[in-house]
Amino acid sequence: MAVAGSGSKAGHENWSSRTAFILAAVGSAVGLGNMWRFPAEAGENGGGAFVLFYIFCVLLIGLPVLLAEVLIGRHGQANAPESVRRVARDSNAGEGWSILASLGVFAAFLILSFYCVVGGWVVYYIGIFANDLVQTGLTGGAFAGRPAEDIEGLLPGLFGNAGLMIGLNLGFLAVTMFFVSRGISSGIEWVAVYLMPLFFVLFLGITIYGAFTGNFSDAVSYLFTFDFEKLTGEVMLAAVGQAFFSLSLGVAGMMTYGAYANRDTNLGKTSGIIAGADTGVAILAGLAIFPIVFAAGLSASAGPGLMFASLPVAFQAMPFGSMIGLLFFVMIFFAALTSSVSLLEAPTAYVFEKFNMPRMVATLIVGAGAAVLGVLSSLSFNDMAEFYPLGFIPLFAETNFFDTLDGVTAKLFMPIGAILTCIFVGWIADARLIDDENGLDGILHQTWRALVRFVCPVVLAVIMAFGLFS
Ligand code: PHE
Repeated sequence: MAVAGSGSKAGHENWSSRTAFILAAVGSAVGLGNMWRFPAEAGENGGGAFVLFYIFCVLLIGLPVLLAEVLIGRHGQANAPESVRRVARDSNAGEGWSILASLGVFAAFLILSFYCVVGGWVVYYIGIFANDLVQTGLTGGAFAGRPAEDIEGLLPGLFGNAGLMIGLNLGFLAVTMFFVSRGISSGIEWVAVYLMPLFFVLFLGITIYGAFTGNFSDAVSYLFTFDFEKLTGEVMLAAVGQAFFSLSLGVAGMMTYGAYANRDTNLGKTSGIIAGADTGVAILAGLAIFPIVFAAGLSASAGPGLMFASLPVAFQAMPFGSMIGLLFFVMIFFAALTSSVSLLEAPTAYVFEKFNMPRMVATLIVGAGAAVLGVLSSLSFNDMAEFYPLGFIPLFAETNFFDTLDGVTAKLFMPIGAILTCIFVGWIADARLIDDENGLDGILHQTWRALVRFVCPVVLAVIMAFGLFS
């Protein structure tokens, strides 16, 4: 394990192995984005058209951008803006390109602040199901003998309690800060190596269980029937935004993780594994959630509460429902934590390297900022529900603080960051340096290069224009 100063070119810690890097990066990608945001976005944007366009975005835009980001990090061996600066310097290009990563670091900070709010909801559900397990015993369904409305009312009940929401939000943030303050090997890598395998075991178990008990066919036709009419500019922008959010792109997170990768890691292959695992989990999560949504007569377009309102209803009817519910939310907690540490790591690495301060102090500074914004996001569900910070922009009219941060990062910061990354890697950086890092040969290399140079920036610019102005 490389420790600070012991042989790593940049004097920082590296992942202890390629597997550790893959687990950490998959851990960053797989999170609330897959299980909470993906079904909610799919439901709000009409189902099939959104889902198929989303898959198209992952393959044609997300995957190439992911590789572009990790390779910048690996070459630069530093925090994201510094890595871009080093690639620029080695390519005789202007160091001002580092702005693309600075924007990303800022966006990661914004996302972290509201991500921990949802992380708090997960903790709340863990508490609810643990308590229920004690009450009903091991074999009982969740909330035995209580009406379904009681379950659907759980989240609105939490929203009504601002103090509790803020407490849970800050608690989740504090756990995230604890692991990031410990550094790579005993913090970030530790969570990924222990929690991600556990996540996958639990996830497969619960999905297989769902496949035997649930009704898949409605969900399949909802998620995969392509209705061209529904594919508006806004839906396309939402789908690209979701692809970026889910793959942790456009916010310097993957650059930061790439910087801890060793020279012998094949970045092309690794990017494929990350994107494949992330997309697989999102689709399976959709297939687990929508059958329940339809069966329980819930609205597919319920928005952010969809996962929290729908799944517990199914757990009520299942034998062992209390226990499965508890396991399910514990699993989501693991996935969310491995993502939130990456969101905190990007700004923290920047702050402590730039200002040459201990990691612990940088973690506290960034965490304190995220706490302030987090409180405002928590209040968006109750006391400040009618505060619309960007209400003067049509796309964000009647959008509360929480949804504004979510929308601005996924629909503006992420695509803009990705466009700049593509221009930088495709046109500005020295082609030999890039070829040397990307781990691709022959036709794959040429395809990737064409995607990064032409397809991604153009398609992204067009989608943004349609989504924002149509
Ligand atoms: N990809 C994470 C998820 O799906 C969220 C995330 C976004 C993490 C951006 C890091 C950077 O939950």
